[in-house]
Amino acid sequence: MQTVNTLGTLREAVEILRQSGPVALVPTMGALHEGHLTLVREAQKRAAHVVVSIFVNPRQFGPNEDLDAYPRQMAQDTRLLEAEGTALLWAPDVAEMYPEGFATNVSVSGVSEGLCGASRPGHFDGVATVVGKLFNQVRPDLALFGEKDWQQLAVIRRMARDLDLTFPHVDAIIGVPTVREADGLAKSSRNQYLSPEDRQAAAALPAAMHRAIAALVGGEAAGTALAALQSDLRAAGFHTVDYAELVDAASLQPLAAPGTAPARLVVAARIGTTRLIDNMPVG
Ligand code: PAJ
Repeated sequence: MQTVNTLGTLREAVEILRQSGPVALVPTMGALHEGHLTLVREAQKRAAHVVVSIFVNPRQFGPNEDLDAYPRQMAQDTRLLEAEGTALLWAPDVAEMYPEGFATNVSVSGVSEGLCGASRPGHFDGVATVVGKLFNQVRPDLALFGEKDWQQLAVIRRMARDLDLTFPHVDAIIGVPTVREADGLAKSSRNQYLSPEDRQAAAALPAAMHRAIAALVGGEAAGTALAALQSDLRAAGFHTVDYAELVDAASLQPLAAPGTAPARLVVAARIGTTRLIDNMPVG
């Protein structure tokens, strides 16, 4: 695996790879776990070469968020990616990604606005800006993202369509189902922040979501099922529920009940100092 830190070297290296087959991009912020590695494995099935980016993107962190504390473990990440047969690791520093004078912001309206967009103002502008840059830097044939970040995936698909960044075809942005721990908690780099007690309690999040989904599918009103979900989370030790909603899977607009179009249960809740998000299909 080649590791590159400058845009010029990246472009040359990708051009060489492209000569012998399609290139897939897996953007990450590092601190890699099985969720990320599953994206790499899916990428390998669909392309000749996999490029992984690791960049802890300051523009998607709010002023009171965990930018400085965010885990950075480049040596371990490099070993993990090497073991997966990754062709290229793109690891720019902040000055390479946002050179002096950088002044552009990509802002996607609609899908960015509710849910995490409401509790983390500016977050999705940061995501859309950096992912737009990554697409242009690597010019991959396809790119893979986790369904774990359902709203992020919707924002990136919208941005790519709107800015004509969908490479050969719109299906080039691939969503990969969430990888979970044995007790159901979605894998996340932020799980490292949890104390042992909070880590144990955090399994209540997927469990409570499964209960709510069963109730919704059984015909219970969304208001009742979501209120029960919130009280389950509070009883388990979550002190704040940023949101717990039933939404249309594509538009992310709130629904009163699951209908014929695909629906999604989306939750963000805080335990200790950690904010966890999860989402699951309903029906
Ligand atoms: P990060 O949180 O490092 O996640 C990188 C990719 O891995 C994202 O597409 C995310 O959805 C996916 N992922 C994380 N946990 C997962 C899990 N348990 N199962 C499946 N996929 C999972 O998301 C970001 O970084 C950034 O916002 C980024 C897109 C790189 C832009 O900076």
